[in-house]
Amino acid sequence: MPKTQFTDAIALLKADHRKVEDLFDKFEKARSNKQKIAEEICNELKIHAAIEEEIFYPSFRGKIEDDVLNEAYVEHDGVKVLVNDIASGGDDEFYDAKVTVLGEKVRHHVHEEERRGDGMFAQVRKTEVDLVELRDRMMARKQELMQQAKSGGLPPAQLAVVQLAA
Ligand SMILES: [Fe+2]
Repeated sequence: MPKTQFTDAIALLKADHRKVEDLFDKFEKARSNKQKIAEEICNELKIHAAIEEEIFYPSFRGKIEDDVLNEAYVEHDGVKVLVNDIASGGDDEFYDAKVTVLGEKVRHHVHEEERRGDGMFAQVRKTEVDLVELRDRMMARKQELMQQAKSGGLPPAQLAVVQLAA
């Protein structure tokens, strides 16, 4: 995946969003191989959440509304709880429902980021942060994680802010 494929960090994240939306559509329509599609969704979301939380979000702390960033972290944690459950492979009677609800959560989160006017990306564009430099760092991290997913598999996603009772 050449770096030049995306003009900046936002283009990279939007491409991730479109990819995962397509995978959810594919899952809904599939009659077989559903678990394989769900695993792909989980890997995509783990990698996407990691590059946003490690690189993208921290770059805008103090530069865009705190509420928008804080809600994004909490939404990610909600997504990760389902991702970790689905990725653990237990094919139970709630499996399809979990993937469907995960899709709804992700679509909501994507909307919060991409919404015109006051969405996260709209706010980000108004800052002086170098979105091309950010893209390069995010691509490098993404490639590293994709490699890890391919070789040994990714560990469960770590929750950033939500505390679960033991
Ligand atoms: Fe996100």
